[in-house]
Amino acid sequence: MPAGEPGEEIQIREGEARDLEAVYRLGLASPSLQPSATAPYLEKDELPGLLRDVLLVAEAEGSLVGFLLAEIYGPLGYIALLSVAPAFHRQGVASKLLEECGKRLRKKGVERLGGFAFQDKGVKRLLLRLGYTAGKSYIWMDRRI
Ligand SMILES: CC(C)(COP(=O)(O)OP(=O)(O)OC[C@H]1O[C@@H](n2cnc3c(N)ncnc32)[C@H](O)[C@@H]1OP(=O)(O)O)[C@@H](O)C(=O)NCCC(=O)NCCS
Repeated sequence: MPAGEPGEEIQIREGEARDLEAVYRLGLASPSLQPSATAPYLEKDELPGLLRDVLLVAEAEGSLVGFLLAEIYGPLGYIALLSVAPAFHRQGVASKLLEECGKRLRKKGVERLGGFAFQDKGVKRLLLRLGYTAGKSYIWMDRRI
């Protein structure tokens, strides 16, 4: 993966089947994306399902450096996964992914975009800056059944 240089060209495009392995690895490398203490954020057999609604990937020099998965529930676009490689943080990659996602969802008739954000991490600041408002806070809990 290239190092993130300020001003480096970042391309946002629709994710395809060939991106899924890299998407999976990038997500796995991000501790913040693992809400559960008992399971990974995604099982490998769930990967093809990521192409169902809106999967956007960010590329720099042909390498995947970020992705956003949004699922559509009627008028709501739910931000299910958002991750940017650490070398590319604070360069506007997530902002670009969110903006492009909003454009695409609007064309599909979706009215709102939202999801869960960590209280104490940059993502909350990012979303506030982009005009999102904060609702209630929850703690993820799960168990094997
Ligand atoms: C959260 C995340 C997606 C942000 O990606 P990014 O490409 O760095 O975000 P942007 O460059 O578009 O951020 C722009 C603004 O967001 C805020 N921001 C982003 N990261 C921040 C951080 N670590 N600390 C404080 N503010 C932060 C700032 O306001 C920033 O503007 P600034 O750089 O001018 O101060 C990225 O840090 C990440 O992948 N984190 C791990 C996974 C995660 O938390 N995903 C979200 C799950 S809900």
